[in-house]
This record gives sequence, structure tokens and C-alpha cells, in this order.
Amino acid sequence: MSKVASSFELSLNPRSRGQSLSRWLYEELRAAILEGRLKAGTTLPATREFARQQRISRGTVLSAFERLQDEGYLSSRVGIGTWVNPNVAATGIARCAPSAVPAYIDRAISGYKHPKPFVNWVALRGTRPFKMRDPALDAFPAELWGRLASRRARSFNAWVREEDDGGGYRPLREAIAHYLGSSRGVNCGPDQIVIVSGVQQALDLLARFLLKPGDPVWMEDPGYFGATIAFQRAGARIVPVPVDDEGLSIVAGVKACAHPRGVFVTPAHQYPLGMTMSLDRRVELLRWAARTGAFILEDDYDSEYRFEGLPSPALQGLDRNGNVIFIGTFTKLLFPALRLGYIVLPPPLVEVFSAFRRGTDLRSSGMDQAVLCDFIAEGHFARHLRRMRSLYAARLEALKDSGRRYLSGVLEVSEINAGLYTAAFLRNGMTSRQAETIAAKHGIETRALDRFTLARPDPRGLLLGFAAFDEKAIRNGAMRLAAALSKR
Ligand SMILES: Cc1ncc(COP(=O)(O)O)c(C=O)c1O
Repeated sequence: MSKVASSFELSLNPRSRGQSLSRWLYEELRAAILEGRLKAGTTLPATREFARQQRISRGTVLSAFERLQDEGYLSSRVGIGTWVNPNVAATGIARCAPSAVPAYIDRAISGYKHPKPFVNWVALRGTRPFKMRDPALDAFPAELWGRLASRRARSFNAWVREEDDGGGYRPLREAIAHYLGSSRGVNCGPDQIVIVSGVQQALDLLARFLLKPGDPVWMEDPGYFGATIAFQRAGARIVPVPVDDEGLSIVAGVKACAHPRGVFVTPAHQYPLGMTMSLDRRVELLRWAARTGAFILEDDYDSEYRFEGLPSPALQGLDRNGNVIFIGTFTKLLFPALRLGYIVLPPPLVEVFSAFRRGTDLRSSGMDQAVLCDFIAEGHFARHLRRMRSLYAARLEALKDSGRRYLSGVLEVSEINAGLYTAAFLRNGMTSRQAETIAAKHGIETRALDRFTLARPDPRGLLLGFAAFDEKAIRNGAMRLAAALSKR
């Protein structure tokens, strides 16, 4: 191809903020070639001349040219110059107008529906009462965790070759099986445990593994949006089943849909209302499942935090037929950024489920599993839970006491003594969403209870997180919330 000398002063778009000169020049020249503004065979000006035209250093031009040459956009020969390589030029890739995006992106964005409880997390950065998400991160033994992590990093060869069939780091599974057996009444051995990146991954995997599009599944109403999202994405048909003081109503469930494939429950601490499922209800649920062959997904996300009496043992421990799949997480017990949790499977499911899971992310991060394993096996986990239990009990008491003092007649804090958040019911005639909005305007973060309902009417209440705030912040927050909710 004959070479066309460029007589241009090529017009280049202005540099964006933070973009280096050589990156800018490289990207602009590449775009000009791909869009056909710089035609195949065009000879570029000598680097010195080009640098003068663009008012930049020759070094910058040389570095951009070299990169474009390495990637095949330009060719050069000493004594002849640098020209646009005919093989890649004029691909006809036109740049979209700055505001336009390819059709597939438009389709993906318009096809995505935010789930009902969606809140804009980015807008909610920072910690202010009564944010729900975090445990007391400043009370976490971070230095100790750091020591365990560096010990594991130094003894890399001792654990890195540990076989993992998709179930997770074997010593961690042993430590979890021991903990679940002694503290939660779960009946399992390490072979039944699959380590995952928290309850949300467990739900996503299990929903896709257990359900086909159109399959009915019972969901607590109100209930945990994470499960709703997982079931919806698997294409399942969600059947809302109301909860009462004893937990999920099996009678109402059977009336709504007698033969679902399964059910999602939070028996130890119902999300979001907080009650514990009664023993009668547990037995009724297990009998129903044994009769119908349905699965029961038991989410045990924060049951260790019960501040009077002992945590109620897991439903799984009463199951004699393999109906219950038990899932748990370290998000609330340790810290959310850890992203580790587990599934306890009935033995006949282990092999096939593990194979299914390998098709997603193979396995969880080995280093994190090894550190967590030491944290549990060396007794730090049990000690941390004991400390946190008394810290959270005091914080919940401060919230209840502030409720009685400042929120009387406006918002009634639930009497339930458990968890890291609690429900509170509006007595001022506001809807959940009105109260959430007005509280936010006063700098108080709450979660409207109607975000978690499926079919039932607005329970007219708020969720208040207390775990991450000291007693002073809790009292202060309650006063500000009272000021907000007393206005109309
Ligand atoms: C009911 C319920 N399950 C599970 C979780 C934790 O999920 P993950 O392990 O994905 O962080 C939460 C956290 O908010 C929850 O409220």
C-alpha cells in the first residue's frame, strides 16, 4: 500500500482529568486509527514535529508511538518514518456519541429490576445510628487476626497444597462441624460442610441447584430479601407465607400452595421481626417436609446473639429425614468483609452439590479459610462471641431504655432480646416509608419494614441496628429519631 504523508495537524480530544499525557496521546491516536480518521498507510509526522504541533515533549510522543507499534497499530522504519499499519486500520469501529452506549448495555440496564428493599448503598456511606449492616467492628480483635494471618502467610507451604474438592479447607470444616455440634445442636460431620462466601452465595447456589423456573417456593412474609432475590433469579415462583408470633404459619402456607419444592426460614431469629420459631411450629414444619419431600433452607445468620437464656438449637438438629439444609455465616459473628459462610448438606447431596459448586467459583479463598480455622480452633472465636454477647446486650438495653424515655407514643421498640438489630413499631400514624424518609432527613438511618414484605400490608415499623454504636450514640440517636418522628 502506498504511503500517504499526513499533512495533518490531527485534532485530538482534550485530555481528561488525571490522564497522563502519554496515555492520552496513545488513546487518541488509537481511536483515530480505529475510527478511520487516520487512514491505512498514512505516514505520521516525525516525532519532533509532532511534539511541536501538540506542544508536548518528544519523549511523550516516542512512548505513545512505541506502544502503538508494539500493539500493531503502527509500523516504522529508520529513514522512512512511522505509518499506520494497513492490517489494522479502518476497522470501521466508530466511537459512539459520548452519551450513547451499545445496545446490549441498554438492554441489560433496562432489563434489570432493583429488588424491593433496594437502598442506594453508595449514598449511605459512613456509619450513623441506626445503621444495620455492621457488627461492632471496633471491638474486633484485629491485631490478633493480623498475627494469625501473618503466621499463615509465613507458613505458606504447610497449607497451600491442602486438597480442596470444592467443599473447603478440611481443618476449617472440622472446626465448624465441632462448633455447630456443640453450640448450635447441628447434627453433622465435616464431610457435610461446604464453605462458601457467605449466606448470599449459599442462597444463590442452592436456589439454582434445587429449583427450576416456575417451581413454587415458600418465603417468610415479611422475610429476608437476600433469599427472595436468589429465588427470583433462579426463576422460581415465590409463595409468600405470613409469619406470626411462633414463626412461619404452615397452615397458611399449605392454603396458599400445598406442594412447594421447599421453604426458606430463619427459625432462630426471624428476619426482620425477630421472634424465635416455637418448638410446636418446628415439629409441624419438619413433619410437613417429611410428608411432602420438600427442602427446608434454615438460615442461621446471627443466632449466637440471644441475650436471655440460651440460643435455641437449630431446626436441623431435630430433622431425621434430611429435609433441612442449614446455612450460616461469619458476617455478623466476625466481620462482613471476611465473606465466609457454610452450607451443611444432608449426606446424599454432598457429592453432586460440590460438583455443581465447582462450576461457579471452584472454592473460597484458601488463606482466609486457614486464618479463620486458627481463630476458631485456638479458642478466640468462642471468646469473641462471649464478649460480643455482653456488649450487644448492653447496647440493646440502652436502645430499649432510650425508647421508653424518648420515643414513647411515637415508636415502640420490640421486647425481643436478640440480634444486632431490632424491630420497632410506629405509634404516630406514619407508614414505614414515611418514617424512614423523615428519619433520614434528620441524619438517622433506619430501614422501613415494608421493604421486606411480599404480600402483607405495611407492618408500620422500622428496623434499628444497634450493634455498631456505643450507648451514648444510641441515646443521642433515639433523641434525634424522636424529634424526627414527632414532626408531621
Ligand atoms: C437473614 C440474613 N441472612 C444472612 C445474612 C448475612 O449474609 P452474608 O453471609 O451473605 O453476609 C444477613 C445479613 O444481613 C441476614 O440478615
